[in-house]
Amino acid sequence: MNAYAFTAEERARIEAICQKYPTRQSAVMPTLWIAQEKFGELSPPVIRLVAETLGLPSAHVEGVATFYTMYLTQRKGKWLLELCTCFTCGECGGRELWDYIQTTLQLNDEGVTPDGLFWFREAECLGACDTAPVLQIEGRRMVFSVNPEKLEKVLEQLRRGELPAFESVFIRNPE
Ligand code: FES
Repeated sequence: MNAYAFTAEERARIEAICQKYPTRQSAVMPTLWIAQEKFGELSPPVIRLVAETLGLPSAHVEGVATFYTMYLTQRKGKWLLELCTCFTCGECGGRELWDYIQTTLQLNDEGVTPDGLFWFREAECLGACDTAPVLQIEGRRMVFSVNPEKLEKVLEQLRRGELPAFESVFIRNPE
């Protein structure tokens, strides 16, 4: 059996997405996201699967997957954590936190911890500057106002295989 295949339920989801758009090309991004959630990365066979599923050339799908940083063509650690060090976050402690992470977690040149569990990258503005500095996990969970103590709690949860709880934008600054 082909290790790279969508289930019937996933195919139905993808077809439902395609129905929302005038062309199947428009469904490339959400389909890539479904594939990345399932396979962890968009390796060449996954790109081909997405292309075949949508009936598009692999080169087109690959072009989209390699253009946007949210798509991972090669996963380097189990959990991807992106710390915003853009202007506001950088000025509000993000730069110091980045230095702290690199030193205390002994990141290698690719930003990966020695146990391969955490893969850190710097991110451009994540659109939540009022709660700087901001950390994004796996492109789908944001942690606001991060400091070393909060980061350590997040890493503990991830070590247990749990994503941190969703932090609502409406309660992140309760005062
Ligand atoms: S500068 Fe970090 S979220 Fe905007």
